[in-house]
Amino acid sequence: MSTPETTLEVATIGKRTAHHRRYLMCRPEHFTVSYKINPWMDPADPTDTAKAVAQWQKLYDLYLELGHEVELIDPLEGYPDMVYTANGGFLIDGRAYVPKFRFTERAGEAPAFADWFRANGFDTVEPLEVNEGEGDFLLVGDTILAGTGFRSTGDSHREVGEVFGREVVSLNLVDPRFYHLDTAIAVLDPVEGVENGGPEKANIAYLPGAFDEESRRILETMYPDAILVSDEDGAVFGLNSSSDGYNVIISPRAKGFEKQLRERGYNPITVDLSELLLGGGGIKCCTLELRAASGSASA
Ligand code: ARG
Repeated sequence: MSTPETTLEVATIGKRTAHHRRYLMCRPEHFTVSYKINPWMDPADPTDTAKAVAQWQKLYDLYLELGHEVELIDPLEGYPDMVYTANGGFLIDGRAYVPKFRFTERAGEAPAFADWFRANGFDTVEPLEVNEGEGDFLLVGDTILAGTGFRSTGDSHREVGEVFGREVVSLNLVDPRFYHLDTAIAVLDPVEGVENGGPEKANIAYLPGAFDEESRRILETMYPDAILVSDEDGAVFGLNSSSDGYNVIISPRAKGFEKQLRERGYNPITVDLSELLLGGGGIKCCTLELRAASGSASA
């Protein structure tokens, strides 16, 4: 075996490897629920913006503590859902595929994200098809898993494949509570073939009941070692989590998932975003991964 990597960027703990990540977040200064575009939202329920900000801050601070980099985009007044930056784009190799939101309530976020990407050195690709960014597109190894059924269209799956020249696997979501792919699948390992005796294949966790039968079969075949999460943990947005390959940030309510992760050698860390759940979002929804061009200094 070659010399183990000991840079600051990568830390191997047991058989798992924590990888440095760069994220985009948006402080929920204008967070509220004033319209309903998913089953979690109820404009009649009061929201507490200060509490949302305080909970969000814990997630932000934790990423920094774990050694990750977090960029911020300015929140726009009138766009209470902008905190869910996962929907702001899908970025690989320094290129950003811009979203085209399903609902007009969020449409104005797209140009703001596109401007941010351009100002920060990413090439942008304007979409023809309706798509909600990393909410529905998840990079697992070299493959893009793409969700449809509620938000992003099947045509956007073809489009995202053309934009990035990668294999796209389409998955059908069938339960309205899990309307984005990132509410039903958690990507546990950022890359394939991790060195130092790590897992040979990037792995995922998922909620089988969120998918139709055909998609479940695809997932079973592609990820025979996946963690299958219980309905109970899925229903508290347990899968809406973010992983660096070792540390997996999850909801404190997803007790079973926490145990499953520990058994597999991951390090689950809980952060409570209960206030942001009123908008139908959680940890992953508030986190967009910025994948720079390979070889670039800020990768
Ligand atoms: N209220 C937002 C919406 O319905 C929540 C988005 C959650 N984001 C996510 N990546 N799942 O669009």
